Amino acid sequence: VARRPIIAIDGPAGSGKSTTAAAVARALGYTHFDSGAVYRAVALVALGSLGPPETWAGAAVAGAAGRAPVAVHAGGGRFVVLVGGAPPGDALRSDAVTQEVSRVAAMAEVRDFVNGLLRSAAVDGGVVMDGRDIGTVVFPDAEVKVFLVADPEERARRRLRERGRTSDSDAIAMEAGALQARDRRDSTRAVAPLVQATGAVLIDTTALAFEEQVRQVIALARAATFGVP
Ligand code: DC
Repeated sequence: VARRPIIAIDGPAGSGKSTTAAAVARALGYTHFDSGAVYRAVALVALGSLGPPETWAGAAVAGAAGRAPVAVHAGGGRFVVLVGGAPPGDALRSDAVTQEVSRVAAMAEVRDFVNGLLRSAAVDGGVVMDGRDIGTVVFPDAEVKVFLVADPEERARRRLRERGRTSDSDAIAMEAGALQARDRRDSTRAVAPLVQATGAVLIDTTALAFEEQVRQVIALARAATFGVP
């Protein structure tokens, strides 16, 4: 039986991938999967069970994630990540996790572990998945691939707004610096670096209203999957 379509949305931190992916999934009746949440869950487990981050080895981190276990569960139009059977909630967005997540995301053993979860969750398709390597590595045969970008300052403003923090120019500059440092780590790592996939459509959201970027992705999906439920 042919699977339903997969929509892959990749891009740097703060480009609006997850909110866009969630809105597109809702509009199409697909299930949203934020793959970054799985990497965050792995970082959370490592922080709680291994020693200082500088000493972490890939096999140990992947092993700890498997034992926790980090798992994925579908419900309510989206996939949620579970740690030891329970949703970790706000802990995934903590500063400690945000700080260490690109370290674990650079580990080949961790990426193999996470890719297994992502691929089995989406085996039947009908999924909008956002991340860094969904169109390049996880689902290179995705029907629709989007690469979302935005200027660092605009991404910083959105991030600060999301977290209810004030966005004066100092705060924006600091947040933009942190986002760019993470982009650099994600784009220059040896395994599955952040790059625009072959066949991905580039959408620069710097000057786009949210509804407009959602509309553009839905239009791409409709065009690519015409006649497919
Ligand atoms: O999108 P995010 O900020 O929640 O992602 C957290 C980290 O996980 C980020 O540093 C990049 C990494 N990541 C990745 O390497 N591959 C993915 N498919 C998704 C996220």
